[in-house]
Amino acid sequence: GVHGFQRVTLAELKEHNTPDDAWSVFNGMVYNITPYLPFHPGGEDELMRVAGRDGTKLFMLTHSWVNLDFMLKECMVGVLVRG
Ligand code: HEM
Repeated sequence: GVHGFQRVTLAELKEHNTPDDAWSVFNGMVYNITPYLPFHPGGEDELMRVAGRDGTKLFMLTHSWVNLDFMLKECMVGVLVRG
């Protein structure tokens, strides 16, 4: 079940759109991408394009083979909900 996950709305997600406080959604899950920014092989600017929004489509276009769930396990914030 989803117990233990924070429920995040789209409005809330949109507020986290700066490098110091960047959240993004991949496959319905919300991640804090700020700690990963300096490590992203594609650069910070590329990753910041999806800050505050759903990054699933761009992620799949660039590197669908990357195991995001595993890499950002520690950065998971919660689950995106309607509202
Ligand atoms: C490269 C991880 C999001 C654009 C990479 C690579 C990893 C990675 C591991 C190296 C892949 C390889 O060499 O096979 C991640 C993770 C993401 C993320 C964990 C989500 C948190 C994004 C997004 C974009 C993007 C949203 C585009 C807007 C790129 C590009 C490269 C790259 C262009 C290629 C860099 C190069 O080889 O010169 N990323 N990425 N990434 N990523 Fe991401």
